[in-house]
Amino acid sequence: MSQAKANIGVIGLAVMGSNLARNLASREGNTVAVFNRSYEKTETLLSEHPEAEFVPAKTYEEFAASLTTPRTAIIMVQAGRGTDAVIDELTRVFEPGDIIVDGGNALFTDTIRREKAVRETGINFVGAGISGGEEGALKGPSIMPGGSAEAWQTLGPILEGIAAVAEGEPCVTHVGTDGAGHFVKMIHNGIEYADMQLIAEAYDLIRRGTGKSPAEIADVFAEWNRGDLESYLIEITAEVLRQVDAETGQPLVDVILDQAGAKGTGAWTVKSALDLGIPVSGIAEAVFARSLSSKPAQRAAAGDLPGPEAAWAVDDADAFIEDVRLALYASKIVAYSQGFDEIIAGAQEYGWEIEKGEVAKLWRGGCIIRARFLNRITEAYAEDPELVALLTAPFFREVLVGGQEAWRRVVVAATQAGIPAPAFSSSLAYYDGLRAERLPAALVQGQRDFFGAHTYKRVDKEGTFHTLWSGDRSEISAVDSH
Ligand SMILES: NC(=O)c1ccc[n+]([C@@H]2O[C@H](COP(=O)([O-])OP(=O)(O)OC[C@H]3O[C@@H](n4cnc5c(N)ncnc54)[C@H](OP(=O)(O)O)[C@@H]3O)[C@@H](O)[C@H]2O)c1
Repeated sequence: MSQAKANIGVIGLAVMGSNLARNLASREGNTVAVFNRSYEKTETLLSEHPEAEFVPAKTYEEFAASLTTPRTAIIMVQAGRGTDAVIDELTRVFEPGDIIVDGGNALFTDTIRREKAVRETGINFVGAGISGGEEGALKGPSIMPGGSAEAWQTLGPILEGIAAVAEGEPCVTHVGTDGAGHFVKMIHNGIEYADMQLIAEAYDLIRRGTGKSPAEIADVFAEWNRGDLESYLIEITAEVLRQVDAETGQPLVDVILDQAGAKGTGAWTVKSALDLGIPVSGIAEAVFARSLSSKPAQRAAAGDLPGPEAAWAVDDADAFIEDVRLALYASKIVAYSQGFDEIIAGAQEYGWEIEKGEVAKLWRGGCIIRARFLNRITEAYAEDPELVALLTAPFFREVLVGGQEAWRRVVVAATQAGIPAPAFSSSLAYYDGLRAERLPAALVQGQRDFFGAHTYKRVDKEGTFHTLWSGDRSEISAVDSH
């Protein structure tokens, strides 16, 4: 048995785990124990990074013995059954007071279940969302931990040491209990889907409306990245658009197959939103747009369906590009507003106390959606913690006031040109839906009462009512059956 000398351990040494282990080892005061199911990965890591002075283990027993108490281990294995298998092993060799952290992309309901089961053994379980991909894991990710306040006491300083730093603050906060961290990470990914789709639509519209080349559009994005839209995703978009394929000499974007993949976290965000009754239409459209792109048979079958006859070109390219920028900004505000609505609803449903402003802060660095405008979200919730809809905060209201006409012009242009812009247009429909004084939901409620006696309320008096549709069509008081 090895002597206990590591203060933190990492299990799962694929890309994410080995990079996170190296990040941990590079920080003052850390000695890192490492374990992987198959020992080859451990050997590779040890031989490639002797400077990290890892403490390797071949068995779970050895791994536990190499850690000082309270033992703290971060699991970075394939989410799902892999995580459960490792938790079973760790609960066998760990003791009460020790801490198991799942840093994988777990579904938050799995984290709630696991936390409950592990807690019964006296061991702490922390589900921590980690964003930033492999580079973030190595250099500083954004970390969203859940779990108990007790576990946070030990874990906090370790995670603060390895997280990204934005404006002098580490991008990690104890988000809430049990599954709160993975829930917030899920919303992060949902917003990421929306943001990426909006950027892709902006590119497509500019290209097809102005005839600019991908390299020229890269310049547009680089310019945008110096203003309000400054963000990692805008920055890398310019990089991708500028890339030339070595084999063909074509812009790389033109030789990449136009079928977008997905690992499922966007779909989780939407499924959870459906359960919570929160309209995250921008995120949903982004998830569906990827699904549509990946239906080659259907796309081929529909390829000869008619679209607008006339070719499309905008009259004033610069003015159109500015309209698209404003439409992108407005739609992005909708995506974040919807994401935070889901956080608020999730917190209420699952009993978490989530500081919305703190969540925005921890997304400022290390993660994929890092962006300048996250500070504005923090400020909005600082000014009004009970803000009912983020997009109505003074700063965002002003952006929407300044951009809504451009937003409409862009959606109209896209529709007339037959160019799909589902995230732009659904975001605008959401905006118009929220601000509408009266919605046709009244008619829907009338239809529901007609076929299902689902009842309705009236605008002019208290109570619940039903019309006797198959009788004399008089109205009666009824029991609410919404
Ligand atoms: N890649 C990213 O950019 C990214 C970003 C954020 C979060 N994540 C999350 O981070 C985690 C790790 O991601 P990854 O891409 O580095 O690795 P991965 O491909 O998701 O998983 C491979 C690792 O899981 C281990 N594993 C699988 N089943 C196991 C089991 N039953 N028992 C023990 N170990 C098992 C493998 O061990 P063997 O070597 O023995 O097969 C290997 O170490 C995942 O949850 C992923 O979703 C990834």
